Amino acid sequence: MAYLYSEIKVKDRVIKNRIVLPPVVRFGWSDDNGFVSARHIEHYEKIAKSGTGLIILEATAIRKEGRLALSQLGIWSDEQIEGLSKIVAACRKHGAEMLIQIHDAGMKTAQGVTEDIVGPSDTTRKGVTARALTKEEIYEIKNRFVEAAKRAEKAGFGGIEIHGAHNYLLDQFMSPITNKREDEYGGSLENRMRFALEVIEGIKEAVSPEFIIGYRFGGNAPTLGEGRIIAKALENKGVDLLHVSWGIFDEITTEVPAGFQYNWIVYLGTEIKKEIGIPVIVVNGIRTPKEASYLIENDLADFVALARAHLADPEWAHKALNGGEIKTCLHCRRCQWYVDGDKCPRNINGG
Ligand SMILES: Cc1cc2nc3c(=O)[nH]c(=O)nc-3n(C[C@H](O)[C@H](O)[C@H](O)COP(=O)(O)O)c2cc1C
Repeated sequence: MAYLYSEIKVKDRVIKNRIVLPPVVRFGWSDDNGFVSARHIEHYEKIAKSGTGLIILEATAIRKEGRLALSQLGIWSDEQIEGLSKIVAACRKHGAEMLIQIHDAGMKTAQGVTEDIVGPSDTTRKGVTARALTKEEIYEIKNRFVEAAKRAEKAGFGGIEIHGAHNYLLDQFMSPITNKREDEYGGSLENRMRFALEVIEGIKEAVSPEFIIGYRFGGNAPTLGEGRIIAKALENKGVDLLHVSWGIFDEITTEVPAGFQYNWIVYLGTEIKKEIGIPVIVVNGIRTPKEASYLIENDLADFVALARAHLADPEWAHKALNGGEIKTCLHCRRCQWYVDGDKCPRNINGG
């Protein structure tokens, strides 16, 4: 496991190993005010204590009106900084580097949050009807991302990860499936990328030079070919760390070559890594130390993220290094979406 435990630099920050806890929303642990609870602190600290090198805190709302759940954590107000800083302090004691994912749901805003669902265009998709944001509103949301990043820095995070994947607002702008605009924010790929690139630019101007700008996006959105171009554009704009996951799709267009041991989402990450010079995190379906280690050892990825594996066994990192018996994730999906974070059958009393 030596490769998995080798240090790596992101910008000027040394991260002690290649194991990442990717963002995983803890449904029901916060409330309508989006404040951090004691459960959050305990949960993240347990994972940091076990030795995970990089923790990316769950999707945290930059606007109250753009939340994916009524109990989503928030970073839309200065009052939320104190709670977030407690998570950072608890985890840093154990040597973990800390990022926070900043997020706006756009068309995927949860029922009960607002009647005014917004997105790139006047569209209906999967039963949800959204109205197109005006240019002034796009500018306003960009500023909310910037304010959120400034708060993250005040809370002590080493950086942010902008959520540009999984069908949420920035992904909706990136995808021709949901973005039907005819102004400079829609149409060509260059135009569809504009909102995301403006958010990055705004954040870079507002934070200190050592603050890490991460970006999570769909390498398939809409094709791996465009994913490669998007990755390069993100790097050129100053992104320091790229997290490759999935974006909006009607069908999976990525073919995994015979013999590739992982799924198509991991494949996207390994292909995109070949195109760019910044560190790449790959994710999805990885469960065992052997699977994780192979990716690092063979230079297919710089970091390996394990979401459900950490829920099944928060001591995954410690056991991977020391040879303890890991409670392997069953991929049963009981943890998925809108369920309380304690419902993992492998780890019934604590997520
Ligand atoms: C309960 C749950 C909550 C999640 N929350 C987020 C989130 O806040 N932000 C995000 O980008 N992905 C989120 N994801 C996706 C994970 O980060 C990860 O990409 C996905 O679970 C696949 O990785 P895995 O096979 O290691 O679990 C969530 C996944 C689960 C199961």
